[in-house]
Amino acid sequence: METGPIKQKLEQQWQDLSLQLRAIPINPLERKWATIALLIAALFIGIIMIDALVHGINAPSNVETIDSARLHLSEEFAEDNLGVQTDGSGLITVRMVAGRYSFFPKHIDVPAETPVTFRWVSLDVLHGVHIPMTNMSTMIVPGYVAQVTTTFPKPGDYPVLCNEYCGLGHNHMWSNISVIAKEDWAAPVKSAIAGGPENE
Ligand code: CUA
Repeated sequence: METGPIKQKLEQQWQDLSLQLRAIPINPLERKWATIALLIAALFIGIIMIDALVHGINAPSNVETIDSARLHLSEEFAEDNLGVQTDGSGLITVRMVAGRYSFFPKHIDVPAETPVTFRWVSLDVLHGVHIPMTNMSTMIVPGYVAQVTTTFPKPGDYPVLCNEYCGLGHNHMWSNISVIAKEDWAAPVKSAIAGGPENE
């Protein structure tokens, strides 16, 4: 591809622009304050960036689709598979379904100070989920799986709140999670149930 002329043109435009900008009369005092304001903005953006990098905060970037109308038939989100599960290496995964106007299962137990990966799906419209005191705040878009890993800082009851308007019952859409001290928590025993991936 021929890039030479395009590059030249862009350089020419850049020069024209900087000439025009320099030609604008700016009061030195105003220039000084504009510089200070820009530096403050740069400082704040820098703090946010460093904080996000240090604490590993990032936007949920997991793009995974699912057929919301057939959740009950899907292997992963069949009713018997919902709730807390641990795999062989002890990683904890929670599968939850959001629907007007509740989160299913209604109640789960998870350990404190342990990373827990939540996988959320919606069975009808757009919902959101917010768990105070954690980084859990995501939209649950029909047709997609929202995955967020979070750690509950201390034992107690945590509310799970819907934070996207989803209908007349939106403000009643909440459930709760019991967070149990790490030592007292026992992984749920997975019984051989019908409807799991192995039984189909
Ligand atoms: Cu679900 Cu608001």
